Amino acid sequence: MGRLAGKVAIVTGGAKGLGAAFSMALGAEGAIVVIADVADGDSLVERIRESGADAFQVPTDVSEEAAVKALVRSTLDRCGKIDILVNNAALYSALPLVPFQDIDVDLWDRVMAVNVRGSFLAAKHAAPSMIERRSGKIINISSGTAYKGQPTQMTHYITSKGAIVALTRALSRELGEHGICVNTLAPGLILSDSILQNPEHLEIARAKVVASRALKRDGYPCDLIGALLFLASADSDFVTGQTIAVDGGSIHT
Ligand SMILES: NC(=O)c1ccc[n+]([C@@H]2O[C@H](COP(=O)([O-])OP(=O)(O)OC[C@H]3O[C@@H](n4cnc5c(N)ncnc54)[C@H](O)[C@@H]3O)[C@@H](O)[C@H]2O)c1
Repeated sequence: MGRLAGKVAIVTGGAKGLGAAFSMALGAEGAIVVIADVADGDSLVERIRESGADAFQVPTDVSEEAAVKALVRSTLDRCGKIDILVNNAALYSALPLVPFQDIDVDLWDRVMAVNVRGSFLAAKHAAPSMIERRSGKIINISSGTAYKGQPTQMTHYITSKGAIVALTRALSRELGEHGICVNTLAPGLILSDSILQNPEHLEIARAKVVASRALKRDGYPCDLIGALLFLASADSDFVTGQTIAVDGGSIHT
């Protein structure tokens, strides 16, 4: 039996890239996986089901409160509870590199709406089900960029990922009395499908990032799974408000 047998896990942005790797891994440990993405998660749902786990998708734009409420309602109607929330959805790989003076205000606001408001909204609406059962795990995906300020020309994104660390700390204080753990997983540059399809990000960052690591190699989605499952499972029941960096030892949190 998997470590997450009987658990219900929502993964925002779970249809592609790292989110897809997280969804597969949670399913492999026995969780029912709810994929909440603006991208189509049909083929991933099929892959997870073929592997013997259960999954379904609820198309969701996490920046919209009505959509997040509908996601939670669908999950509760179908599964009766929410045990794990992975706040992974973000505007990231699709963002062009832009000097900060040239970032349009509308784009700045959109990045904050998806990356920060989306995580807040998902936590806000998933928490009542966790509070009711005095148990739950919220895992917010930040980035090593929040600690380094690099790569350059991503100021909107980097700022949003800094906010995720602060959101984790604030939520951990408010939700601790309800037995809910809130932590941040901060990947370094990871060669997700999404990043591989946007070589601009790789060109600017890859060599510098690998040189900055104690472990001098590229990072892959599979490198994050151990930390994800630790934070999602009972193994981390006395860990909250923390940031776990999985980046080959580039930053120290
Ligand atoms: N790959 C890396 O090197 C790396 C490093 C550090 C942190 N991260 C973080 O990991 C997460 C996943 O990154 P990725 O590499 O898979 O890139 P990605 O850009 O493909 O991931 C974003 C996911 O969020 C979804 N999404 C975008 N807008 C949405 C919205 N409004 N509502 C719901 N879903 C939405 C996308 O469809 C996609 O599935 C992101 O939070 C990113 O910031 C990635």
